[in-house]
Amino acid sequence: MTTDTLSPSETPLLLDAQTADLLFREARTVNTFSPDEITDEQLAAVYDLVRWGPTAMNISPLRVLVVRTPEGRERLAAHMADGNRAKTERAPLSLVVATDVDFHEHMGRLAPHMGAVAEGLAGAPEARAAMARDNAFLQVGYLIVGLRAAGLHAGPMGGFDAAALDADLLAGTSWRSVLVINVGQAPAEHDDLQTPSTYPRQTRLDFAEVARTV
Ligand SMILES: Cc1cc2nc3c(=O)[nH]c(=O)nc-3n(C[C@H](O)[C@H](O)[C@H](O)COP(=O)(O)O)c2cc1C
Repeated sequence: MTTDTLSPSETPLLLDAQTADLLFREARTVNTFSPDEITDEQLAAVYDLVRWGPTAMNISPLRVLVVRTPEGRERLAAHMADGNRAKTERAPLSLVVATDVDFHEHMGRLAPHMGAVAEGLAGAPEARAAMARDNAFLQVGYLIVGLRAAGLHAGPMGGFDAAALDADLLAGTSWRSVLVINVGQAPAEHDDLQTPSTYPRQTRLDFAEVARTV
């Protein structure tokens, strides 16, 4: 089932077509950016949306290291996989998206009805690490859509040396990296850089292929 062929009056979607395109249908993964600065105000506005996306027991383990300074950007690039390094160096800003494995310390405020669970998690580091990673990845999805809502473009990358990055940029913290996202405005027009702005759009699976009903 697809809504592509439905007229606006027939679609079950509540959001308008322009917003659906901005957030999903026309939004692309971007690898080269204009040099325009991305401000903390923009990032804070994005987070102000993203934080309302649901997580298990509201644990909200997502943490973000904003890598903005030349020194920080150089350190980050050193940990990226070879194929991800040049585009990370060229991006105006990168986010090290991390999860807080000590998220339970905030549960008194975030999940006051779950006191006994929080106590149990305090003595269960392995269960905490798994929950932290699962729920941070869930929030990564909200974050990518949130960046698009601000007119920004994202280049998410799982290809980096997480152990080395954590030992360097996240040393001494309870944060563990899960993803790096280059963030910027898309270039006005395609340039001749080796890594194209976007690869050709690949297809997606249809609803009938991914859903079963019992
Ligand atoms: C979790 C995650 C990890 C990814 N890791 C990499 C990566 O290491 N290097 C890379 O070039 N692209 C990476 N990508 C980009 C995907 O290949 C891209 O988002 C996907 O093909 C969809 O492209 P589109 O948004 O332009 O349709 C990653 C994307 C996600 C969401």
